[in-house]
Amino acid sequence: MRVIIKNDSNDCSTWVAGYIAYSIKKAKPSAKKPFVLGLPTGSTPLGVYKELIKLYQNKKISFEHVVTFNMDEYVGLSPEDKNSYHYFMHENFFKFININPKNIYILNGLTKDYAKECEDYEKAIKAYGGIDLMLGGIGSDGHIAFNEPFSSFASRTRIKTLAPSTIKDNSRFFDNDISKVPTQALTIGIGTIMDSKEVIIMATGENKAEAIRATIEEPINHKCPASILQTHRYGIIVCDEGAIKKLSSPTIQYFKGTENRL
Ligand code: GLP
Repeated sequence: MRVIIKNDSNDCSTWVAGYIAYSIKKAKPSAKKPFVLGLPTGSTPLGVYKELIKLYQNKKISFEHVVTFNMDEYVGLSPEDKNSYHYFMHENFFKFININPKNIYILNGLTKDYAKECEDYEKAIKAYGGIDLMLGGIGSDGHIAFNEPFSSFASRTRIKTLAPSTIKDNSRFFDNDISKVPTQALTIGIGTIMDSKEVIIMATGENKAEAIRATIEEPINHKCPASILQTHRYGIIVCDEGAIKKLSSPTIQYFKGTENRL
């Protein structure tokens, strides 16, 4: 596992956006063989979206042949709902770039048939040959997408009930009222994430420090879903000084030393 440690969330965002741009360019995507990008919501990736928009405006990158799959969506929220992940993605990213709307995939939280919606999502990812680069954040309990602690490492896209800690964390987007936070979400599985050719998990701020310690220093355990990244061939964790507060000094020295020698 590669761990990149940056000073703050701005530096993390610049690094991640640069890496995404580099990966898209390197793949030389075309209509026939687009680049497939997995995307998260949350406050952590906001800076990445801002940087990618800047790169697009400065003509450094094009999203013409990029296909995106979002990680998750709340059950029961319409795309027009300000708290839906559809709305978040359009307002913070898609409306500023040259992506073809047909290339945007986000789970439908209003579906009447959850099983079919999730199965179709998996099929669509497969039809593109899988996800080339998956970007994710991490919950304070170590969840990735909405795969809460004790989710199966083999899980695929499905409906999940949210953990009380996630509902509490996310209530800041719902007027700090936990009764307004949906209790369920559709989410890609841990298996879906792990099938991606590359995975980047971003973590910023001290409230992610315990999750990052468990992910990097503890043995793989379903109690911390992100710890499965230890087994990914191309897994990268990008974190700031706040998020590494609970890592041991030798671990920090190792990763800082390794990156400095690159
Ligand atoms: C939600 C999302 C996750 C995200 C997490 C952390 O639960 N489903 O994908 O990683 O929040 O969000 P934030 O970046 O706002 O801390």
